[in-house]
Amino acid sequence: MIRISPSLLSADLYKLGEDVERAVDAGIDMLHVDVMDGHFVPNISMGIPIVKWLRKHTDVELDVHLMITDPDTYAPRFAKAGADIVTVHVEATDNLDRVLSSIKENGARCGVTLNPSTPLEDIRSALPMVDMVLIMSVNPGYGGQSYIDHSTEKIKKLKGMIDELGLDIPIEVDGGITPDNVHEVVEAGASIVVAGSSVFSINDRDIEGNVKRLRDAF
Ligand code: DX5
Ligand code: ZN
Repeated sequence: MIRISPSLLSADLYKLGEDVERAVDAGIDMLHVDVMDGHFVPNISMGIPIVKWLRKHTDVELDVHLMITDPDTYAPRFAKAGADIVTVHVEATDNLDRVLSSIKENGARCGVTLNPSTPLEDIRSALPMVDMVLIMSVNPGYGGQSYIDHSTEKIKKLKGMIDELGLDIPIEVDGGITPDNVHEVVEAGASIVVAGSSVFSINDRDIEGNVKRLRDAF
């Protein structure tokens, strides 16, 4: 089953609840929450209170992507705030195992991710511990960027690595996903697709139609 996880980064934050409900009614599977601290990436987005309020009002699976320099401190707090899955960047911590454990101890599933230029080898040892791997197909920091083509090869390689280890871990892909390229990433082995602008901004914010167009393009 292929799951769609639209990124709130491209939602109209003045109408946050409305956008979430429209996306949920359109049949999304998860909601991707992009957390940026202005240090790990050159942008600041949203934090723990947003996750708390989302949790209070919706049952949709909250897929929190931490683009922050201190996941050791904050990852468990996002788990406690109600995230279903918290994903941390391998580049951001020297204690990946400990961070992943702290997420689980606080009641969420854990994921690991890596920037486009970071080699897959850097996450190999963490694979047996994680519930998801997120492949960044743009350099993190902004929505609306173009898909980096060599990400497809990376997804295939990761799929091979996971199979080789006898594991069953879903691969999520994040950045520049559109109805034109979603088939390519799914074929390469991704089973969760993040889509920000192609769900919440294009086509005059036709959220329902955009979700459908993405799903029809698998
Ligand atoms: C990039 C974020 C992505 C991004 C996706 O830093 O992690 O989740 O918002 O947005 P689109 O789909 O517009 O590339
Ligand atoms: Zn993201």
